[in-house]
Amino acid sequence: MGKKIGLIVGSLRKESFNKKVAHIIMSTIADDSENTYQIIEIGQLPFYNQDFDTEGAPSTVDDFRVEVAQHDAFMFITPEYNRSIPGVLKNALDVASRPYGKSVWNGKPAAIVSVSIGAIGGFGANHHLRQCLTFLNMPALQQPEMYIGNITQLLSEDGTSFKEQQTVDHFKKFIQAFDGWIEKF
Ligand SMILES: Cc1cc2nc3c(=O)[nH]c(=O)nc-3n(C[C@H](O)[C@H](O)[C@H](O)COP(=O)(O)O)c2cc1C
Repeated sequence: MGKKIGLIVGSLRKESFNKKVAHIIMSTIADDSENTYQIIEIGQLPFYNQDFDTEGAPSTVDDFRVEVAQHDAFMFITPEYNRSIPGVLKNALDVASRPYGKSVWNGKPAAIVSVSIGAIGGFGANHHLRQCLTFLNMPALQQPEMYIGNITQLLSEDGTSFKEQQTVDHFKKFIQAFDGWIEKF
């Protein structure tokens, strides 16, 4: 049966390259998948505060926890900020990991795509995120790894597709591998 996959993008920027990649995955790359890929927004979340868990949380926090709970697996598509993940993404991970013992990430499979304008492809962010996912008990797809460097050269002028078929094929293989990974869990 088709699973619900949440795409979580680590950039809030209107013209974000990571957002563009997420939209290409939803609109074309995941076409052959029996799973449904949908973006889960994180920009509305307040900074996590542990008082939420004893005094009650803002409705955006409760709603986000419910939305995460309703998904079966997650694909993180993130830029690298200062060789790590953007704070907004770490915040989203923290928000849905609490109250203690009630993490809605627990046990759900994940995949990581790091996207950069630079040549290193967000390697640092990719691996810092893996560290968090280990603690959150989210089995993260190991291969193929997705360090997408020089993104400006890969996107079409309007940013709605990849220029080269080999980039499309690369992403399709990744989605196939992730679908197989989800089945294992
Ligand atoms: C605060 C900040 C730190 C950054 N640090 C890195 C970095 O460590 N490595 C990298 O490859 N790019 C870095 N960049 C450049 C990003 O790759 C670039 O801004 C990219 O477009 C961000 O992704 P987005 O287009 O999805 O917003 C940084 C950008 C910002 C704003």
